[in-house]
Amino acid sequence: MGRKLLLEHENVPGIQGLEVYRAKGGYRSVEKALRTMSPEAVVEEVKKSGLRGRGGAGFPTGMKWSFLAKPPGVPRYLVVNADESEPGTFKDRYLMERIPHLLIEGMITSSFALGANLAFIYIRGEYFYVSRILERAIDEARAAGWLGRNILGTGYDLEIHVQVGAGAYICGEETALLESLEGKRGNPRIKPPFPAVKGLYECPTVVNNVETIAAVVPIVNDGGEEYAKIGVGRSTGTKLISAGGNIRRPGVYEIELGVSCDEFINSDQWCGGVDGRAFKAVVPGGSSVPIVPYELFLRTAAGEPRLMTYESLSDGGFATGTMLGSGGFYAYNDAQCIVRSTWNHTRFYRHESCGQCSPCREGTGWMEKVLHRIEHGEGRMEDIDLLWDIQRRIEGNTICPLGDAAAWPVASAIRHFRDEFEFHVRHPQKVKDPRHFEKEPFVRKPKPATV
Ligand SMILES: Cc1cc2nc3c(=O)[nH]c(=O)nc-3n(C[C@H](O)[C@H](O)[C@H](O)COP(=O)(O)O)c2cc1C
Ligand code: SF4
Repeated sequence: MGRKLLLEHENVPGIQGLEVYRAKGGYRSVEKALRTMSPEAVVEEVKKSGLRGRGGAGFPTGMKWSFLAKPPGVPRYLVVNADESEPGTFKDRYLMERIPHLLIEGMITSSFALGANLAFIYIRGEYFYVSRILERAIDEARAAGWLGRNILGTGYDLEIHVQVGAGAYICGEETALLESLEGKRGNPRIKPPFPAVKGLYECPTVVNNVETIAAVVPIVNDGGEEYAKIGVGRSTGTKLISAGGNIRRPGVYEIELGVSCDEFINSDQWCGGVDGRAFKAVVPGGSSVPIVPYELFLRTAAGEPRLMTYESLSDGGFATGTMLGSGGFYAYNDAQCIVRSTWNHTRFYRHESCGQCSPCREGTGWMEKVLHRIEHGEGRMEDIDLLWDIQRRIEGNTICPLGDAAAWPVASAIRHFRDEFEFHVRHPQKVKDPRHFEKEPFVRKPKPATV
């Protein structure tokens, strides 16, 4: 379970530069696609690979590409989503920083497949220094003839622009991203129409995550069928996971989808186990996905070992499961306070709500206030049901999924850790000390997950 397709050369000195990247086999996918394949054949390989979008939702990439409208005389665009604002997620930054040419190569091959002559990287403002690394790589690629006019003498033209955003989480949502790229405020658009039909400047557009586009390189090099052999079921290939929290070995790891959750968290190849205390909970896919108690992270609803795949992690729905999401993995030990963590997440969503929908605008602020008072020893027992009620009214009632992203952490925290919320109400003096669980950990009694 240790094969690497994207990060194979991560530690090679000089891999940031074109010369070393080429020496390690870089830009082979461009040569293969442009010289020997048709755009349709490249799309077909991506379909065969079973690759699913690595930005969080896991939508099949080949299918998304085949939805791209192709009205004659209208330009098409590829937009790479490098906003990466999901708390806990830092794998795209690692990939762009370490191996920038992998993204540029993936963009050339993907743009060729989509019939795009202009592609954009939309990168969050806080990653300004990474945008400089990318620009350097683009300049090197252009100077070597991999970009610009008549690439490899094949008649295919492509330019790539890097656009730095101002650092707003909502600009990672694909339609808000397109608004921002057009120079407007990053408010999500109502869908349909989807970007594949009316995207950037109202032209057909594919928006893909950094890791998704990088994965096109090994898919074209080795063939979609080879890629599909890795993984389990509909979770094919490898996935980058950014692991943090109370583990011995935080970092960015490339796993073959299908490794067991137990192995991922406990083996020295990856997280290396907990940092000397008891494990309490896991958020495996970035702050917006449901938190699950450690024992549910290890086993599915049927008691089988849980696997790091889209399906296995969500097994049992929200009662026992969670999501692979963006791969922003975070582990909590027993000294961590789930109420404080939920309050922190909610503060974030309140701050990042664009304000267009009342349930999101008002609900995130209301939840934040209630969580603040529970965490600070000023909560009432009925506040817990109030929180449950507010989150329920946000989920599914908003223009974009930021509303759901704000509701799920609250719902799952109450679903699985209600005792901890009640403890806060019962022991206001104890929880007024911000390190309340350090000396006296809160021990949760495993029970069936119902509210
Ligand atoms: C609030 C919000 C923030 C998002 N942030 C990101 C992000 O930072 N990067 C990303 O690739 N996708 C993000 N997404 C998902 C994108 O809307 C879109 O689904 C994704 O870029 C598609 O790429 P993929 O198919 O390659 O996963 C976000 C979605 C929402 C609702
Ligand atoms: S759900 Fe929130 S962030 Fe999304 S459009 Fe509505 S108000 Fe804006």
